[in-house]
Amino acid sequence: MQESGKESCKDPARKKASDPFRSSGLIQRGRGIHETKGMQPEGAKVRRMFAEVAPRYDLLNHTLSGGIDALWRKRTVAKALEGGAGLEGSAAVRVLDVCSGTGDLAFSFARAGCLVFGGDFCVEMLERGEEKRSSRQHGERVRFFAADAQRLPFARDSFDLATVAFGIRNVQDPVQGLRDMARVVRPGGKVLVLEFAKPRTPVLGPLYLWYFRRILPKIGSLLSPGSRGSKAYDYLPESVMQFPEREAFVSLMEEAGLESCQYKLLSFGIACLYWGLVPKGSG
Ligand SMILES: C[S@@+](CC[C@H](N)C(=O)[O-])C[C@H]1O[C@@H](n2cnc3c(N)ncnc32)[C@H](O)[C@@H]1O
Repeated sequence: MQESGKESCKDPARKKASDPFRSSGLIQRGRGIHETKGMQPEGAKVRRMFAEVAPRYDLLNHTLSGGIDALWRKRTVAKALEGGAGLEGSAAVRVLDVCSGTGDLAFSFARAGCLVFGGDFCVEMLERGEEKRSSRQHGERVRFFAADAQRLPFARDSFDLATVAFGIRNVQDPVQGLRDMARVVRPGGKVLVLEFAKPRTPVLGPLYLWYFRRILPKIGSLLSPGSRGSKAYDYLPESVMQFPEREAFVSLMEEAGLESCQYKLLSFGIACLYWGLVPKGSG
């Protein structure tokens, strides 16, 4: 990935900045995954839950969403890169994808020509991502690292964009997670969040919520046997029901220091894409 970054970066300062790992303090782990020293114990329950579902995560994800999650990721990449992501010339866009899991969003950005750093605090999820790398177009442009989204091991101005898909809801302090994403993105860069929402349209809204709360956990536990695996699919609707959405989530983004925050509902409000800018005066 470094190679393609070098080829596409003409500005020497940017060339150096295109490898945020240099200043990150990350250490190499097995299978190409980099890890921060001393991962914090908080969040251990969530981490264990994802470790248990990791082997079947992709299958469950695509089955339970009917494959529509691929379309949402495409929309996220398009919004992120709109207007060339604010970059001039041929510089490669540096993307940080936190709560990256098995890397589907990270691989979508790589396919679009970006240099991507996919981080997650669950190594088992990242290992699945590593396994997928060789079968993905431009998979070599993705680097995975293990770290907590609330304490990212990167310097300011390390990335042009930061994204999180279906992850911010799981972070213990979502505002701190957003704040740290904003810290490592250059002034003027974007932070994007893809998250589930609760559809409010008549008929479809109640029908979907019934599926989401009653049927989805049952399918989840059938496809993911094991106590924590099945708990994960009870946890999914519970966490979505409790999590702030639409304007309430936009307020959290603003609290984290982002500006011009907006959102767009996807698929009749089943999901929502949020985005905001890192203020130009910061950094
Ligand atoms: C539902 S998965 C989403 C994975 C991926 N982004 C996707 O769209 O398929 C949520 C991920 O967030 C990770 N996660 C939750 N809290 C985290 C935290 N505080 N720091 C880093 N990763 C976290 C979990 O380990 C899990 O892999």
